[in-house]
Amino acid sequence: KKPPSRKGSMADVPQDLITQINRLEELFTVPAKKLKAISDHFVDELTKGLTVEGGSIPMNPTWCMAFPDGNETGTFLALDMGGTNLRVCEITLLEEKGEFDIIQSKYKMPEELKTGTSEELWGYIADCLQQFIEYHHQEEELDELPLGFTFSYPATQDYIDHGVLQRWTKGFDIEGVEGNDVVPPFEAALAERGVPIRLTALVNDTTGTLIASAYTDTEMKIGCIFGTGCNAAYMENVGSIPKLAHMNLDPELPMAINCEWGAFDNEHQILPRTTYDIIIDKESPRPGQQSFEKMIAGLYLGEIFRLVLVDLHESLECKIFEGQDLGKLKKPYSLDAGFLSAVEEDPFENLSETEDMFRNKLGIVCNKPELELIRRLAELIGTRAARLSACGVAAICKKKGWDKAHVGADGSVFNKYPHFKQRGAQALKEILDWPAHKGKGKNDPVEILPAEDGSGVGAALIAALTLKRVQQGQN
Ligand code: GLC
Repeated sequence: KKPPSRKGSMADVPQDLITQINRLEELFTVPAKKLKAISDHFVDELTKGLTVEGGSIPMNPTWCMAFPDGNETGTFLALDMGGTNLRVCEITLLEEKGEFDIIQSKYKMPEELKTGTSEELWGYIADCLQQFIEYHHQEEELDELPLGFTFSYPATQDYIDHGVLQRWTKGFDIEGVEGNDVVPPFEAALAERGVPIRLTALVNDTTGTLIASAYTDTEMKIGCIFGTGCNAAYMENVGSIPKLAHMNLDPELPMAINCEWGAFDNEHQILPRTTYDIIIDKESPRPGQQSFEKMIAGLYLGEIFRLVLVDLHESLECKIFEGQDLGKLKKPYSLDAGFLSAVEEDPFENLSETEDMFRNKLGIVCNKPELELIRRLAELIGTRAARLSACGVAAICKKKGWDKAHVGADGSVFNKYPHFKQRGAQALKEILDWPAHKGKGKNDPVEILPAEDGSGVGAALIAALTLKRVQQGQN
């Protein structure tokens, strides 16, 4: 369903607010022509990232070198170090093609860990794994279990069971990890506790998503995450990766590439950044990094919204929330993407949920015109995110010459943000110039579909594929 247009209902909104709404519309709307230009530039940057000289998009080879064929078997652990939770799964890939059993536990990832020390991080993760093993295997004598570790940050990999963290993203800022291989300290923490686990594959969540989705749908060509961060992976052929030429591999071999497209346009050549995007970047732990991600990912959507509202309150032309205490709203990152989702979900007729949220969470009483402005602003920010994200998907398809593809997507924004899917589909259509056809979104040549569990089943499958390659004596 296309979100209904709100324009007709603005009759009772004062002129200065209308002027501001028009200004915001102008700032946050990305027309089809611009989307096309962004996606063409994106294609060049994807290609550049694969060269020896490189570009702003890392295009990391992942050493995941095959799609599953459904005949993978065995028991594997999968660890997902997400932003909010730590999830441990034990997955048994069964003899029946494509079938598996899964048991899992979730642990809270304490907020302080994100900016703590490296010892605390690895110690905490090893403790969770130990608890999981003790709980599920009690007194059993265990052989070392192979682990697929979903570590969703940019890493340079020369082998699949190692990875040097290029830089933290998504607000993480733990000293002493960037520039180092993350596997030895992780394994040391396990060894210290005597946990019988062997890391088999270090996996990005996008690669896990690609592989898990391809397990059940052979049309799957791209794995995407639209969540706290935003990124994609796809299968390239080694012959198109000049930076691997020195390894003398068969050019026909497949190699999953973790694009790390959040870094697209770090040099600010094409994205329509607003002053709000610039503030977000400046105030972040890694200014100058992840330009694209900072405009579209869940971690930042609420913050963009908050910055606009504070600016409107302080602007001379339009004082919203006049005379009210904005103390709570002035706190950075006090609003998350869930807040924005709730604003967009609120029935437009009375916006009572929005009114309550502003009153109860922020201590701000909104009048009707302010509520309408808030709603429109949420729509603009959510729509911009979906439309810009589509540029990346379109770019991979263009680069690979795919005029038909399934894209497996996961992440809180994709799964929960209202209208995100429809807005993305609409933008893809505008960028790739499909003729009008019935079914709106369904059976589009390039379709973004809900993915299988990438950081669970995907990571286990990648571990299984890795063991198979090792047994076959391939590198
Ligand atoms: C950030 C990370 C990337 C991850 C994405 C989604 O962009 O750098 O590795 O895939 O978030 O979680």
